[in-house]
Order: sequence, then structure tokens, then C-alpha cells
Amino acid sequence: MSKIEIKSIVRSVGSYLPKRILTNDELAKTVDTSDEWIFQRTGIHERRIAAKGEFTSDLAYHAAIDALKNANLSTNDIDLIIVATTTPDLTFPSTAALVQQKLGIHHGAAFDIQAVCSGFVFGVATADSYIKNQLAKRILLIGAETFSRIVDWNDRTTCVLFGDGAGAMILEAKETDEDVGVLASSLRTDGADWDKLYVDGGVSSTGTIGHVKMQGKEVFKHAVSMIFDVVDDVFAKSGHNSDELDWFVPHQANKRIIDAAGKKLKIPSEKTVVTVQKHANTSAASVPLALSQAVGDGRIKKGDLVMLEAMGGGFTWGASLIRW
Ligand code: UT7
Repeated sequence: MSKIEIKSIVRSVGSYLPKRILTNDELAKTVDTSDEWIFQRTGIHERRIAAKGEFTSDLAYHAAIDALKNANLSTNDIDLIIVATTTPDLTFPSTAALVQQKLGIHHGAAFDIQAVCSGFVFGVATADSYIKNQLAKRILLIGAETFSRIVDWNDRTTCVLFGDGAGAMILEAKETDEDVGVLASSLRTDGADWDKLYVDGGVSSTGTIGHVKMQGKEVFKHAVSMIFDVVDDVFAKSGHNSDELDWFVPHQANKRIIDAAGKKLKIPSEKTVVTVQKHANTSAASVPLALSQAVGDGRIKKGDLVMLEAMGGGFTWGASLIRW
């Protein structure tokens, strides 16, 4: 019989997408591309674009409100806000501080984490550690991005891939001997390949915002083995395996990467949540957006075993196994 411990339980998820839909056909009017090329290579049909004056903190705020409503909680119940983002409103303060202000919260703490597309999974592992070490009792974790602001809209090799959005998760402490909540996580970074996927601007280098630069084929080449590496590690650490998995919720960068990773991990496509066709790659927002969709439509239910994974710039990569 297992002993009673503090576990990080998922209380709810939530999401927000900006209203404006940008389809592949529309993009093909401004850059030399086509719906056929984009869909065949990536699985993407459309993406959302934040409105002028709509910032990452606004998207995050709406996702947070949705998660609070779904948990039947109020802002008073949250004692830590973590925002995973690569596209903050300002250089400082953190987007999490701005979200805290928008929510009218004056207690607890708030900070951002930066692990690009892996940000939300890094956030799950961070939140889990804060809860298990009794630094927080109930955490609002948000992945929010306005990648449309750092994409070069004249570069067809990157601009077709990204979109804007936000997803949130509320994790809370529970003393239990059950096999529930965040069961295990695995995080990795290797800065050696930073220049395969980066933004060519920054505060202390160019003093500009910069644009996304990517060697797509190189990223693709690394993606599947990195995903396998961390998912396999999480299964080993948790004592579970892919046969027991109910849902696989991967980072939504490219349908071909999702399919290849699923195949290597022996996870059938019926158990894989795919939203890339509608959202494109929303970086740190992609996993919580996919989770929110699958919980909202009733696919992910209490008791389900759910594997999250992501990889992105850095390179960073990570996975988390959660019993819902
Ligand atoms: O969160 C993690 C971040 N990123 C990723 O996971 C992305 C990983 N990489 C990929 O998803 C793929 O590499 C891409 C979708 C970016 C590209 O697919 P690919 O099969 O690797 O294509 P490619 O880069 O080898 O390009 C093939 C051709 C090239 O033309 P040539 O040189 O063969 O004449 C490109 O110029 O396709 C051309 N091309 C396009 N054509 C139409 C590149 N972008 C486009 C486009 N529309 N948007």
C-alpha cells in the first residue's frame, strides 16, 4: 500500500482563442504558398490572430477566467500564477504579474517561465514541485502566446506555421495515497542547437524584437527522438506504460511529427488529441489548448491517464504524465 503524500491534482483547464481566423487560402494571397502545401506538410488549415491592442496577458486572462469558472473557484483561491510565454507584453514586469493585476489578485506570487514551445510542460513540472514542496497550494498555470507578433509575414517558411492563443490549468495540493495528479515529469534542454530555432532580436543583443528563424528540416529531424526520450523516461519513472495510456496530448507543431512520435511510442492515433489543423503552432499555449478541447468535449475524464509532451527552441523538450 502506498503512503499518504502531497500530490498535484488537476482541478480544471480553460482556454481562449482570439476571434480572428486566418486561413491558409487567405495567407496564399500574401505569400507564395497554398492550402495544399501547408496542409500536406503540417496538417494546418487555419490559425487565430490576436487583435490590435490584444496582448498576451489578455489572452492569458481570458483562459484563466475560463479555468476558474470550470473549477468553480474564485481569484482568492489562487496563491501562485505561472505564465509560460515567449511573447511577453513587456520586457518586464512578467506577463504573470500583469495577469495577476487583471484578475485583481494582490496576494501570493506570480512569475513567467521561458522554455518556448515546451513552456507549458516545464510549467507543469515546476508547479508540481512548488506544490510538493509546500510553496503553494493552488496554482494557476497558463501557456499564452502572440506569436503573430514575432513572425516575419514575408517568410513563407515560418509564417504559415504559427498562431495565437492561451490555455490554463489549475493544479492544487491534495494529501492522498492514490495514484493521481502529476505522476512524473521529465525535462531536457540542450543549448547546442539554439540557432536551429530562435528569434534574431533581443533586449541585450540587438535591442529589437526580432523575427522567428527556423531550420525546419533540422528541427523535424530532432523532434521525434527527443519526444520519445522524455516520454519513455516518464513512463519508466512512473511505472506506467503506453498500453495503459488513455490520452496522448502532444505539442501541436506539425501533424507529421505527432504521427511519427505516436508510432514510435506505440500510441494509437485514436488516443491522440490533435488540434493543429485549427490552431497551428501556438507554442506554450498548444498543449493546454488541446487539453481544454479534449476535456471540454468529454474525451478526457476523471481517472484517465494522460501524457503531455512538447519540444521547441533551445532545444527544450519535456513530458508529464497525469492521472486526471
Ligand atoms: O515547436 C517546434 C517548432 N517547429 C517545428 O516543429 C517545425 C519542424 N519542421 C517542420 O515542420 C517542417 O520542416 C516544415 C513544415 C517547416 C517544412 O517542411 P519540409 O518538408 O521540411 O519542407 P522543406 O523546408 O524541405 O521545403 C520544401 C520546399 C522548399 O522548396 P525547394 O527548395 O524544394 O524548391 C521550400 O522552399 O518547400 C518550399 N516551401 C514552401 N512552399 C510553399 C517552404 N515553405 C513553403 C510554403 N509554401 N509555406
